[in-house]
Amino acid sequence: MARILTLTLNPALDLAIRIGSIRLGEVNRTESTRIDAAGKGINVARVLAGLGHDVTVSGLLGTDNETLFVRTFTELGLHDAFIRVPGETRINAKLSETGGRVTDLNGPGPMIPAHALDALTERLESLLPGLEAVVISGSLPPNVTPAKLASLVFVARARRVPVWLDTSGAALVAGLGARPSGVKPNEKELADWAGHPLDTSEARLQAALRLNSEGVEDVIVSAGAEGVIWAQRGDALMAESPRVSVVSTVGAGDTLLAGMLHGVLSGWPREQGLRFATALAAESVRHIGVGDPRTADFEQLQRQTIIRSLTSDARTGGSLG
Ligand SMILES: Nc1ncnc2c1ncn2[C@@H]1O[C@H](COP(=O)(O)OP(=O)(O)OP(=O)(O)O)[C@@H](O)[C@H]1O
Ligand SMILES: [Mg+2]
Repeated sequence: MARILTLTLNPALDLAIRIGSIRLGEVNRTESTRIDAAGKGINVARVLAGLGHDVTVSGLLGTDNETLFVRTFTELGLHDAFIRVPGETRINAKLSETGGRVTDLNGPGPMIPAHALDALTERLESLLPGLEAVVISGSLPPNVTPAKLASLVFVARARRVPVWLDTSGAALVAGLGARPSGVKPNEKELADWAGHPLDTSEARLQAALRLNSEGVEDVIVSAGAEGVIWAQRGDALMAESPRVSVVSTVGAGDTLLAGMLHGVLSGWPREQGLRFATALAAESVRHIGVGDPRTADFEQLQRQTIIRSLTSDARTGGSLG
């Protein structure tokens, strides 16, 4: 069991609405609605706590609608170290129609006072001793700069605590400049960083290896059903996802990141960790929510996950699956 901190700077209450079909501009009747405390770092924490780790969650949380978050943290056994900010945490609505169309309406997040950001840095510094990893996940509230995100990475790296980063756009570019130990972009996020499309797995591999050479030790590139590339200090493995029927891909990337961290912190051989994390992410897309390693056919999903080396075929004989 490891001590891990996850940071979510822009959490959300997720409002899931199911409806036959939406008629815009009219009164509609929904089939069901539910609301959950969400945010990428919280999803990662959920998976890691389920795997037996001692997990603290922090970031920025609005006081006006914090009740559901606090209840969720208690239910999951997560230590609550969120900095409170005035106002409401944003609400993200996800509208699912019977035909399968999903429409997301994501809020920007509240304005964050400068003193709350200072408090977050202080909170991070006070939590770092004894931590085995920090995960920083998700988008930034509108007035939090990418440079601020980079400074959080710096603070943890200065104390030699590994930092794993999962964000996008300018925040990803700035965060990578602070040399996190690990990063988990999806294909599109990595392409935005690279400045050109990464349509093939060879192109994704080259971008991942470039990040390795720039000092990011672990680069995990997820490409949905096409699977995962894990480049570690210039040595890359590829995982092919098992085939599953997709219900919801929300939280798949968070599940993958948590599974990868679990393998690394458990000292598992790389193939074992990548297989576990890829199978767990595939498990997560079969239902709403994060992946569950206790599901009945999880061993089978792991057996169906094929691992290959992309950089050392001669040594491994090509297939590790
Ligand atoms: N259709 C699918 N079939 C099988 N596995 C999948 C599928 N979609 C996603 N996965 C698994 O989940 C992992 C992460 O998915 P994806 O690449 O979509 O992450 P992401 O875009 O970061 O997601 P998120 O919305 O959680 O940020 C993939 O690498 C794969 O292992
Ligand atoms: Mg993602």
